[in-house]
Amino acid sequence: MLFDVLPRLLAPGKGPRGRLGGMGSHDPAGEPAEQVASVVDEVEEAAGEMDRARRALAGATRVAVLTGAGISTDSGIPDFRGPEGVWTRNPAAERTSTLAVYLEDPEVRRQAWQNRLASPAWDATPNAGHRALVALERQGRLLALITQNIDELHQLAGSDRSLVIELHGTMRRVVCWRCGAEGPMGPTLERVRAGDPDPACLRCGGILKSATISFGQALDPATVSRAEEAALGCDVFLAVGSSLSVYPAAGLVPLAKEGGAGLVIVNGEPTPYDDIADAVVRVPISAALPGLLAAR
Ligand SMILES: NC(=O)c1ccc[n+]([C@@H]2O[C@H](COP(=O)([O-])OP(=O)(O)OC[C@H]3O[C@@H](n4cnc5c(N)ncnc54)[C@H](O)[C@@H]3O)[C@@H](O)[C@H]2O)c1
Ligand SMILES: [Zn+2]
Repeated sequence: MLFDVLPRLLAPGKGPRGRLGGMGSHDPAGEPAEQVASVVDEVEEAAGEMDRARRALAGATRVAVLTGAGISTDSGIPDFRGPEGVWTRNPAAERTSTLAVYLEDPEVRRQAWQNRLASPAWDATPNAGHRALVALERQGRLLALITQNIDELHQLAGSDRSLVIELHGTMRRVVCWRCGAEGPMGPTLERVRAGDPDPACLRCGGILKSATISFGQALDPATVSRAEEAALGCDVFLAVGSSLSVYPAAGLVPLAKEGGAGLVIVNGEPTPYDDIADAVVRVPISAALPGLLAAR
């Protein structure tokens, strides 16, 4: 895959120039010519997929986009399941995202509050990938921007809030698990920063949690319906930066196909739906999207 091969070849002393320069030098990693040929194949394949994707999107007038954590990694927010993902590095971290564990275990809540406090999302700014989706909207071709993300970087980039469907909620708000009181996250984080390890609801004393969907928690049915409507009503479905392994979000992909839409996937790693896609682009998202979504 291009992601793996390029850094390996471009690393100091390991690049094609370094290898090819040393006539007769022994390279246990393989023959230099074979390595270069395989990179050329990868680059040609990526260019072909980019071209197919560009053509599929150029003819579209009602694009439904689904974004996942991968669109925000170039803004400095790690994903969960990618090669550098939070759970890939520390599988135990998944526990803090499980609702029953969060509600039962004060230690898990304390850890979750520290994680929220330290989240890189507070300082993150949108990248070229988010901005390319704003451009698509301004071309009048964006039907809906469905996101699994909780960072609100789409809205910060300038996407119309009424077009953004947040399947998994937002980390920028807090909600009481007992009385349902909801508010901005800032004041509660201030309480954590001031030394309260597990701040309780100021109205009823109940457990507070970010307004995000944890494992074991149902999604909002009205939000899911809106996303399904968009999947069924679009002419091209564009899935970006999602491992497409979290349901019901991932289920929007086959739904869109059943509804007759074209399917373009932009993701660094393979997904379970690559086989039914019209194009699969494995190029870094913030580099790929501006070219794919330029005005026709
Ligand atoms: N930024 C956020 O809001 C954020 C961050 C982490 C997790 N989450 C939550 O966790 C869940 C994780 O599911 P998910 O499927 O969205 O993410 P995921 O972690 O399962 O997968 C992210 C995918 O993006 C790819 N990727 C990462 N950076 C990329 C790049 N620059 N270019 C191309 N591909 C790249 C990875 O290969 C991976 O397959 C989501 O439901 C979301 O709610 C949100
Ligand atoms: Zn309450």
